[in-house]
Amino acid sequence: MAKVGIVGAGPAGLLLAHLLHREGIEAVVLEARSREYLETSPHRIRAGVLEWGSKEILRRAGLGQRMLEQGLEHRGVYLAFDGALHRLDFPSLTGKSIWVYGQQFVVQDMIRLHLAQGGEIRFEHEVLGLEEDAGGLWVVYRTPEGATERMRCDFVVGADGSHSRLRGQIPGARLHQKNYPFAWLGILAEAPPAAEELIYASHPRGFALFSMRSPTRSRNYLQVGVEERLEDWPEERIWAELSERLGGVAEVRPGPLLEKSLTPLRSLVLEPMQHGRLFLMGDAAHVVPPTGAKGMNLALCDAVLLYRALLAYYRQGEEGHLLRYTQEALRHVWQAELFSYFMTTLLHTPVDAFDDGLRTAQLRHLAESPHLQRFLAENYVGLHTSGRY
Ligand code: DHB
Repeated sequence: MAKVGIVGAGPAGLLLAHLLHREGIEAVVLEARSREYLETSPHRIRAGVLEWGSKEILRRAGLGQRMLEQGLEHRGVYLAFDGALHRLDFPSLTGKSIWVYGQQFVVQDMIRLHLAQGGEIRFEHEVLGLEEDAGGLWVVYRTPEGATERMRCDFVVGADGSHSRLRGQIPGARLHQKNYPFAWLGILAEAPPAAEELIYASHPRGFALFSMRSPTRSRNYLQVGVEERLEDWPEERIWAELSERLGGVAEVRPGPLLEKSLTPLRSLVLEPMQHGRLFLMGDAAHVVPPTGAKGMNLALCDAVLLYRALLAYYRQGEEGHLLRYTQEALRHVWQAELFSYFMTTLLHTPVDAFDDGLRTAQLRHLAESPHLQRFLAENYVGLHTSGRY
């Protein structure tokens, strides 16, 4: 019997498993994909910004070594609009900084350490559903050999991503949702980044983001319509559009593409995030549009909250934190939803000219106002991931 069955080997599931294992609480992770797919597939490339507190969470969990060696500490970001660059300086606005380190590397580090310390991750085990009977709560899954088996758990944690199967197991849950009329075309390229820090560029042709994974690898995104198809975006068109939207404030240096993807923008919050002995974490419970890179940070925050709650239960027999998990998690979830919504509407060019007028007024105000800059900066470096657990 596993005490805690965790469905999904993403950042939230793996962090929770690792923290519980360190305390001697048995946790088994079931993951539908193979280890190789998770660690190396270009389809698994996600965002790469860690809030200050997320970096602390990973460091304290013993997961910080490669991140601190190979990740990039950033002390600010640029906003580009009206043909000018505006830098927000995080240390002076917040006393903190952020860390640029790809989610796929975080997952690699977590898998390696967890397995090395004797943790259990069953790859290629697809969870089919849950069953509850007099004997308890069971996770039903298919093994790589095709057999259907079940595992009894004290608790089941759904950390199975934005297409979560376990999300449907919370009776009466309400889905708060918003779809935006934009998608992001993302590329990873063997090319030096446009600047030493990220540039969020607002341009009449649409938003563009200039990020990176290392000093020789850029990660860039373009706002496109939801109906766009990847086939219509050959390499030359992508680079030309990136360059145009940067508006001459820096230089785009093209290079071979390693990956190309399309992501529609949406917001989603499920309430409650728990039912009985089932708890959801990360994208299974909430999705943010990518602007501002909050997704992985939120997932890590959920994992720390649930870890604390499970620890209180197993150590002191105290159920209060488990019962209040949704309530506590939704505080940071809504804050991240607010910030992601703010960044998305601030930076993307809308169809409606009135909306665009409001947005432009806000951007110009931001460039002048230390108060608005501080609002943006303190959300960006993270309000809720304190790093303590
Ligand atoms: C990245 C993604 C984001 O959504 C963002 O706001 C900043 C950076 C990235 O992938 O590097």
